[in-house]
This record gives sequence, structure tokens and C-alpha cells, in this order.
Amino acid sequence: MNLEEIIKDTIIQNQAPIGFDEFMQLALYYPKLGYYRSGSEKFGEKGDFITAPETSDLFGFCLAKQCAEVLKLEDDILEFGAGSGVLAAQILFELGRLNKLPKHYYILELSAELRYRQQQTISSVLPELLGRVVWLDELPKGFCGVVIANEVLDAMPAKRIIQQKKHFYELGVGLSQTGFDWQIKNIKLSENDYALPSLMSEGYTTEINQQANAWINALHDAVDNALILLIDYGMHRDEYFHPQRNDGTLRCYHHHKASDNPFINIGEQDITTSVNFSDIADQASSSGFNIIGYATQAMFLLSLGIDEYLLNETDENKRITLAQQVKQLILPSAMGESFKVLALNTTQQVKLTGFKEQDLTHKL
Ligand SMILES: C[S@@+](CC[C@H](N)C(=O)[O-])C[C@H]1O[C@@H](n2cnc3c(N)ncnc32)[C@H](O)[C@@H]1O
Repeated sequence: MNLEEIIKDTIIQNQAPIGFDEFMQLALYYPKLGYYRSGSEKFGEKGDFITAPETSDLFGFCLAKQCAEVLKLEDDILEFGAGSGVLAAQILFELGRLNKLPKHYYILELSAELRYRQQQTISSVLPELLGRVVWLDELPKGFCGVVIANEVLDAMPAKRIIQQKKHFYELGVGLSQTGFDWQIKNIKLSENDYALPSLMSEGYTTEINQQANAWINALHDAVDNALILLIDYGMHRDEYFHPQRNDGTLRCYHHHKASDNPFINIGEQDITTSVNFSDIADQASSSGFNIIGYATQAMFLLSLGIDEYLLNETDENKRITLAQQVKQLILPSAMGESFKVLALNTTQQVKLTGFKEQDLTHKL
């Protein structure tokens, strides 16, 4: 059976529509066939989308500077969903230059194929540091150091919900004669339990991400003394549930083309939803984390001196190339404002350099 048939069969066996989170779980993570479990090229120009570390080494260098500020002698770094491994290589390279290498650079990666690619990337650019990189199968215990998740929360399966007669209901995935079909499940969601907006227009559709919340909770149990950096596209609650955003944030990417149809290219396209950073922050606080900063990606990178890297480049041609990359990372029309950085920690409130120029925590 191919993946489409497997998902259809799951719905038939269920004798009712499945939640969109279950559909997304199968489409992205079904062993060997799900988008993130198969061998297809995903990142970069030949793939489906380009992430910040794929755009420029300066992204990882700035993150390294932020890590260097808090890393203690025996501390480690833990990266979730490390993609092609370029971010790990950038961070290790710059921490080496700053003489602040972590004891281990752990990677928790769900895809065996991506693990292999990460090993290839690191061994080709930093063979001398490969020994510090350790791939984990599960969350560690008593972790100390820095946790990084770039574009990971948006890839976690979300539920899709719809407002009907002043209440939110779960929107499931069922089958019609033409294939997959959105079908309302008879499960009313309490506005208070999920901090949902009231009085939206009839048919207002949006997403909630219970898996992301559960992950934050599990992360708190796994860390002892840590700084957590969550970087993703998303916004605070009022913007997320803006009355005009009446069809939610669900997006699919296939060969750099965006669509809002998750029922095509099954297993061959990325499916994502934006991050509701207020929900993440609320969950983080109730799990026991401190919220220590929230800023746009642009202001975070500028606070960490991304422009200085550019000015320090003496080769004219390289500087022009770097300038193009920096624009992509910081311009509002590119990744600068739609991407945010949320920082959490487990100890006391500290002011990190990354939030020197902007801290929007009050908006969460
Ligand atoms: C859009 S890609 C981002 C890859 C990379 N971080 C980058 O910026 O290029 C999303 C990644 O998150 C991973 N992911 C999703 N949920 C995860 C989880 N619970 N633990 C670890 N990785 C996860 C996926 O497997 C996928 O590799």
C-alpha cells in the first residue's frame, strides 16, 4: 500500500473522520513513507523550502554567540530536528572560534535518512568535531546547556478547528467519493481550556497544537539547567486568532510552491502550521520554565551583531553575497518579522544579548 492508501485505510478502520493531527502525523512521519521519513530532498533549492540555516551561515554564527554567553564548562547543546546538519556545523564552527565548544552536541532526529545526512555534513566540514556530536533516540535526563529547535514546532501535528454557532468543533479528515475531505467531528472544544477566541465569524477556522504543548512539558522534565531557544514562524495569540485570519495558518510546500491543500502530494509535501507563541509560553510557564525573551528573528540577529559579521568581511564579493543572505534573514518582507525567537530557561530571569534591542514578552 502507498501512503495515501494507508491513511485512507486508517480512516476506514476508524469508522469516523480522524483528527487533522493524526492525518498530519501519518503524512509527515509514517515510517519510511512519511514526508520527514522518506529519502526525498527537502531543504534548499532542489527541495521544497529553505530554512534560515540553509540561507546563511551567519544565522548559526549568531546562535552560537548566544550559546557562548550561557554555556558553562561541562554543558552540552541539544538540537531537535537538525535538518541537513548545517545549523549544527555553523554553531560548532563558531563556538570553536570563540573557544566555547560544548562537551557534546546532541541531535534528536526522527528521520534515519536525515541523521545520515547530518553525519555527512558535519564530517565533511568539521571532521575534527564529529566525535562531539551524538545522536539521541529519546529525550535525555538532567540535561544542562542550550536546547535549540529551529522550525520544529511548526512541523508538529496540529488539530484544525472550526467555529459553528458560537462554539469551536474539531475539523477531522474523512473520505468522500473524490478522496480526502474535511468533516466536522461532533466534539465541542471549551474556549477556556484552549484559550480560544469567542465570537468569531461563522466558519472561522484555525489550529491548536496539543502536541507542541506536550513536547514543552516533556522538555521541562528532561532538562536540569538549560536555556531553550525556539525559533519559528508564528505570532502571539491576538495576531494568531485575528478575525481576518479566518482560514488559519495551515500551509503545504512542494517544490517551493505554497498551497493550503494537505490532501495532495501525500508524503511528498511539507505540511506546517504557524506557532501560537502565547500558547507555547503559557504551557512553558505552567511546566515551570521562565520566559526570558521574545523577539522577531530580525531583532534577535541584529542584537547579536549579524551586521558586524557583514562589516568584518574584507572580500568585496563575499560581502555582497553575505549582504543578500542577511537581507533574506532580517527584512520584514522575507523572514525577519514572520519568524520569532522565544527563549525559556529553568533558573533565574536573565537578560540575554539576543533580546538587547527588542523584547516583546509583554505581547505574549
Ligand atoms: C522544517 S524541518 C526543520 C529542519 C531544520 N531544523 C532546519 O532549520 O533546517 C522540521 C524538522 O523537525 C523535526 N521534528 C518534528 N517533530 C520533532 C520532534 N518531536 N523531535 C525532533 N524532531 C522533530 C522533523 O522531523 C523535521 O526534521
